[in-house]
Amino acid sequence: MALRKLIAGNWKMNGSLDGLSELDAIAEAAATHSAVDVAICPPATLIAVAVARQPGLAIGAQDCHSAATGAHTGCLSAQMLAEAGAKMAIVGHSERRTDNHESDAEVRAKAVAVINQGLTAIICVGESAAQRDAGDAVAVVTQQLDGSVPVEADGARIVIAYEPVWAIGTGRTPSTADVAEMHSAIRARLMALLGEGGAAVRILYGGSVKPSNATELMAVADVDGALVGGASLKAADFVPIIAAAASI
Ligand code: 13P
Repeated sequence: MALRKLIAGNWKMNGSLDGLSELDAIAEAAATHSAVDVAICPPATLIAVAVARQPGLAIGAQDCHSAATGAHTGCLSAQMLAEAGAKMAIVGHSERRTDNHESDAEVRAKAVAVINQGLTAIICVGESAAQRDAGDAVAVVTQQLDGSVPVEADGARIVIAYEPVWAIGTGRTPSTADVAEMHSAIRARLMALLGEGGAAVRILYGGSVKPSNATELMAVADVDGALVGGASLKAADFVPIIAAAASI
């Protein structure tokens, strides 16, 4: 089953009020290529302003706390993100799994909070270079899925982003054969975890996606879009990726 592709930009800790002008061309491209879903996840401080600037563009968050309220200084709940206008939230990005020692169980709790708020959870998984070199990539990702995906969830409310850690920000990408193998393994695991609902989950590829490799990556079976870091900061890079996805 061909799913609508989602091209999501993760601005990480980049961007500014001035930089939001990039959203104008991105929103225009999203409207032009209406067969593809487009989203931008800016820093949380910019979510509400981004929504006000481009109400037609899906804006998301990069993380959220699993609790609704409470003594969690510096954290943001899914309710707060929804109130700011976010339509989705990334959870379990490898940078947070590493920097903030987030476990699969925490990632799952965050995903549940996001879904319960009516938002879409983009759950990130991916192996390190050492794990791939050891031949453990599929086993590692399968374990992350088992621990991070809420099995009671509606498949349409979940997106998986497969982001090999060694491909993030390095300019390196797996071969299309390796991407195909991993995405097929992820699909099989989602079907095992969610039943038929697993067929509705979009599986994004992330890690050094750019205009020059987007077409070949987006054409791989079971690649239902991309989670884009560096190349999402400028419309000049991001718009051709949207166009590439729309051309498949
Ligand atoms: P890059 O596209 O900069 O490699 O980042 C990928 C990523 O981590 C998106 O979440």
